[in-house]
Amino acid sequence: MVDLHCHILPDMDDGARDVRESLAMAQLALERGTTQLVATPHCHTDGAEAVNRAIEFLREQLQCVGLPLAVFPGMEIFADENTARLLQDGKLLTLGGSRYPLVEFAFECDERLPRRLLRQLVEAGYRPVVAHPERYTYIQQEPRLLNDWLDMGCLLQLNKGSFSGQFGPRCQALAFSLVARGYAAVISSDGHGFDRRTPTLDRTWDLICQDFSPRAAEMLLQENPRRILRNFPIPAPRLHRF
Ligand SMILES: [Fe+2]
Repeated sequence: MVDLHCHILPDMDDGARDVRESLAMAQLALERGTTQLVATPHCHTDGAEAVNRAIEFLREQLQCVGLPLAVFPGMEIFADENTARLLQDGKLLTLGGSRYPLVEFAFECDERLPRRLLRQLVEAGYRPVVAHPERYTYIQQEPRLLNDWLDMGCLLQLNKGSFSGQFGPRCQALAFSLVARGYAAVISSDGHGFDRRTPTLDRTWDLICQDFSPRAAEMLLQENPRRILRNFPIPAPRLHRF
C-alpha cells in the first residue's frame, strides 16, 4: 500500500517525537503492508528545506537499520491566500514533487474560504488533495459543498481513523458515504505515532474489501496514491451526487 499522509518525521510537529519513534513507525508500516509513504509534517508558511533535510536523515537511518520503506517528501499544508505563491517559490512542498499538494483547512470556518483557496490553487496549476474532509464540521453538515471542490478537479483524502469511528459517528458515516458515492480518491493513515494514530492501513484494506470490494481497496490504497506520487492524472470518478 501507499500512504500519502503520515507525520513520521522526527520532532517536526505533533507526530514522531524522535528518530526512534520514526523508525518504529516505519517498521510497523512495513509489517502491515505499506511500502511507500509520504512524510507530511504540518506546514504553513515555509519548511521545505527543513523537511528535505529531515527526509534525507530518515532515509539514512532506515538504510542503517535495513528497513526498506520508501519515504517521499511532502507536507500537510494549512492553506491560506499565500499557499499557491509559496508552492511556486519552492517554500512549500507538494506530495513527492508532483502537481498534487496535500492541503487542510480549519475544522470550523466559513465554507466559502476553502472554495476560494482551492480555486486559487487550481488556477495556479495545482491539483489539491484535501486532507480528511469528512472531519470538517461544515462538510458534515452540508456534504453538498464537496461538489464544487470535485468539479474544480480537487481530490479527497480520507483518514483511516474515520472509518473505525475514531473521530465520532458523524465523521464515520460520512467517510463510508464518500466511498459509496465515489467522492473518495485516497485513504491514508494520517499516522502520528507508534502507539497512537498508527501508520497502519491493513485493517482499513480489509474493511474496504468487505464493505465495498477488493477493487475499491486497490483504488483507494494503492493505485490512486501511486498515481499521485508519479504525477499521473487521476480519472474523474462517476459520482452519486449528494
Ligand atoms: Fe495530518
